[in-house]
Amino acid sequence: MQKVLILDFGAQYSQLIARRVREQNVYCEVKPFSVTAQQVRDFAPIGIILSGGPQSVYAAGSPQVDPDLFTLGVPVLGICYGCQLIAHTLGGEVTAAQDDTAREYGKTRTVFDTSCKLFAGLREESVTWMSHGDYMAKVPAGFTLCAHSDACPTVGICDETRGFYGVQFHPEVNHTEQGAEILHNFLYAICGAVGDWTMADYRQTAIRSIRETVGTGRALLALSGGVDSSVAAALMAEAIGSQLTCVFVDHGLMRKDEGDEVEAAFSKWDIHFVRVNAEGRFLGKLAGVCDPETKRKIIGEEFIRVFEAEAKKIGAVEFLVQGTIYPDVIESGLGNSAVIKSHHNVGGLPDYVDFKQIIEPLRMLFKDEVRQLGRELGLPEYLVMRQPFPGPGLAIRVIGDITKDKLDTLREADFIFRDEVAKVGYDRQMNQYFAVLTSMRSVGVMGDGRTYDYTLALRGVTTTDFMTADWARIPYDLLDRVSTRIVNEVRGINRIVYDITSKPPATIEWE
Ligand code: XMP
Repeated sequence: MQKVLILDFGAQYSQLIARRVREQNVYCEVKPFSVTAQQVRDFAPIGIILSGGPQSVYAAGSPQVDPDLFTLGVPVLGICYGCQLIAHTLGGEVTAAQDDTAREYGKTRTVFDTSCKLFAGLREESVTWMSHGDYMAKVPAGFTLCAHSDACPTVGICDETRGFYGVQFHPEVNHTEQGAEILHNFLYAICGAVGDWTMADYRQTAIRSIRETVGTGRALLALSGGVDSSVAAALMAEAIGSQLTCVFVDHGLMRKDEGDEVEAAFSKWDIHFVRVNAEGRFLGKLAGVCDPETKRKIIGEEFIRVFEAEAKKIGAVEFLVQGTIYPDVIESGLGNSAVIKSHHNVGGLPDYVDFKQIIEPLRMLFKDEVRQLGRELGLPEYLVMRQPFPGPGLAIRVIGDITKDKLDTLREADFIFRDEVAKVGYDRQMNQYFAVLTSMRSVGVMGDGRTYDYTLALRGVTTTDFMTADWARIPYDLLDRVSTRIVNEVRGINRIVYDITSKPPATIEWE
């Protein structure tokens, strides 16, 4: 399989560059800028992309590349900081832009020289997205200019003989109109990519490698029903069948029919599927508990207890499978580069199960690739496209104390909400949406009678990272259908409200 190497200079966009490359069916990996030319040679990429970054290439202590990188005979594309680094390393000059010259932020009209391979076949003029305060005052020997904007004469540079290209703008962001075409040109016309990264191929490669690793050993996996653990389970099931045990702890806090759906999805594989019905146990522990953090703690601890008990029954296993995915790996810090954010899935190995080695079969995949692989493995769409669902489940969507009745009421209402949203395809417009049982009662009237029932809140958000979110502008007629159905079909609810707060100041979940 052909590989492209992305060197990360602390850009918020290096993940995005990787996704864009993979979308063009070319495999790539993100590595820290500090890798040596020898390490790069060993990795044997068909092309190298230098990412953007927050620093100035001429500043003391700013990240630099091993200059021998430019002697490997491998094409290089520098983006923003990466572009300036090419200029800086190869003898050009980068300086801070003065106010009235080449400092650019945001959408910028850009003119391309379409005789340059990087821009071949493009419209000569289009919008690109810029974010730079430095610019190349002098390009290195052997380079020519191949793109400019009104403010900046050095938006694009190239040395076609050596295969070195640099752009000041970000081709990976959607605001850059011909960004995908530019990356396509770099990958296919310049690096000679053939487009051999497909999930069908990955499936075969991963299965072979899992079989080699596991041999005749046994593997254990905690299945939550979320996308990552489900796809990891399906891939393992396909690879090692009955050597795999999946433990699915049903804590009774799932959405309507979810437990059965998960079980049904795995019935086609010859694996040991253990569904632990622990509803009574969880609800017993949660009885009378109102504080959200206490709920989380109880559920987390109880989950470990139940899983541990099941694992003990199974005995020692050689392998524990985790559904870690590539963004977790990148965000946890790339080897010796700065840690951006630590992530609970990486590094924090559970110490309560007796196993020799961890297997992370999705470790190199992005979320959309995980979904594609799930489809490839024949998992149903409702599992593959599942929206994120918190580990503590509906326990943090029933405000205050939890009872089985309240959970059942919420399950019905939440199901209707999801059903109506899906019917009109509005699920594609939101990243997460659900119902919350507020536990607040108010007076209503139904038929001729007075009611005194619960208020249900609907929540729908759009977000890319779940760190910030905006409330979804769900069409009124859709809200109307949901509201009418819920008050008519679900006993115990007589009032529906829609949450119109963003995050911050609110959070996505209510607890
Ligand atoms: P908040 O409510 O913090 O949620 O804005 C951000 C995202 O995290 C999910 N979430 C959780 N996921 N355990 C989880 O596994 C939790 O305790 C938890 N709390 C919130 C939430 O659904 C949203 O996607």
